[in-house]
Amino acid sequence: MILPNITQNYVNDDHQSNIIMEMIDTLAKSHIISQGVCEYLLDHISMRELPYLMMKARELTDQIYGKEIFFRGLIEITNVCSQGCYYCGLQSGNNLVNRYRMSETAILSTVEEGYQLGFRSFVWQGGEDAGLTDEWLCSLIRKFRADYPDCVVTLSIGERSRASYQALYDSGLDRCLLRHESASKSLYEKLHPQWMSFDHRMQCLQDLKDIGYWVGAGFLINPPFQKNADLVEDLMFIQRFQPHMCGIGPFIPHPDTKFRDEEAGYGNQTAVMLALVRLIVPEVLLPATTALATVDALGRSKGLNSGGNVVMPNLTAPDIRKLYEIYAQKKNWGDEAAENVKRAIRDIEELGYIPALTRGDHISYKEK
Ligand code: 5AD
Repeated sequence: MILPNITQNYVNDDHQSNIIMEMIDTLAKSHIISQGVCEYLLDHISMRELPYLMMKARELTDQIYGKEIFFRGLIEITNVCSQGCYYCGLQSGNNLVNRYRMSETAILSTVEEGYQLGFRSFVWQGGEDAGLTDEWLCSLIRKFRADYPDCVVTLSIGERSRASYQALYDSGLDRCLLRHESASKSLYEKLHPQWMSFDHRMQCLQDLKDIGYWVGAGFLINPPFQKNADLVEDLMFIQRFQPHMCGIGPFIPHPDTKFRDEEAGYGNQTAVMLALVRLIVPEVLLPATTALATVDALGRSKGLNSGGNVVMPNLTAPDIRKLYEIYAQKKNWGDEAAENVKRAIRDIEELGYIPALTRGDHISYKEK
């Protein structure tokens, strides 16, 4: 169990609490954390300091991005996957999954539906599907750019070669997400089969950055075997790598995986990590993830109040959406796109934020 003081309503005594608050204050000013402070914080932070940490992270977010929450329309373009991540319901060994790959027409008509609903930013996410050739993807990206010049797309389709990322970039793509999943090599290797390489994944992230992409990394909270020391490695990696975006969500067991009986991550654990990432990389785009909303009834507010400033309502057609089961009981605002967006907007407003159906650029972003 990671960050146990956060899940058991434990509160520190005055002395301990003051030490933690001072560490939070220093981090909120310097945006630099040492490994030692990081270890101390994760091992000692309790429910008493969590609201303060969240407030500091939100304050910083407000200074940079204001109260706007960027909307990105999620389109789950394929559930075909050649990888074997033990936690994921879509892993290649799961024969119970009905596999699909959306056609170009289906993807672009889903984009059109999202466009009509006001979206200007889309995320195309999928498994690592060898059927997505460079040629096919490049042509799709070029069509998207030509038909929707006021929109942007972020691609999240796993590890590819540097040449492939370069070809996609050259066709007009400039944003990619690839969660590193865990920056601790030993933990990464416990969560993935031997044929998956930690070093290759990290190389992909570096390649994306070197090519000039706006890059998203990210990690799981409380998957099996995770210790605070592993999360320390995640934070130190995020500090070094300085991603433009960071997807952080609790692990949620999927019934058809070997981790089916393992404990899910908690909302409060996730809130701590979101807030720390915000304080370490002030300008980062930080989604209040669907996984967080799934494990915790207050997940959306915890995500936004910890410095989250992105949400990704699902635009995928309901009949195929149910085949995209990364984890169990995925939470959604609504079954179909229009309902989804309406409820998401209302939800965000009720929490005191401003829904922004815009391109949602990183503060430093300049169009190439
Ligand atoms: N629980 C939570 N998140 C998961 N992901 C995959 N499987 C699970 C799970 N069981 C996350 C991974 C991946 C992202 C698309 O979904 O971090 O990068």
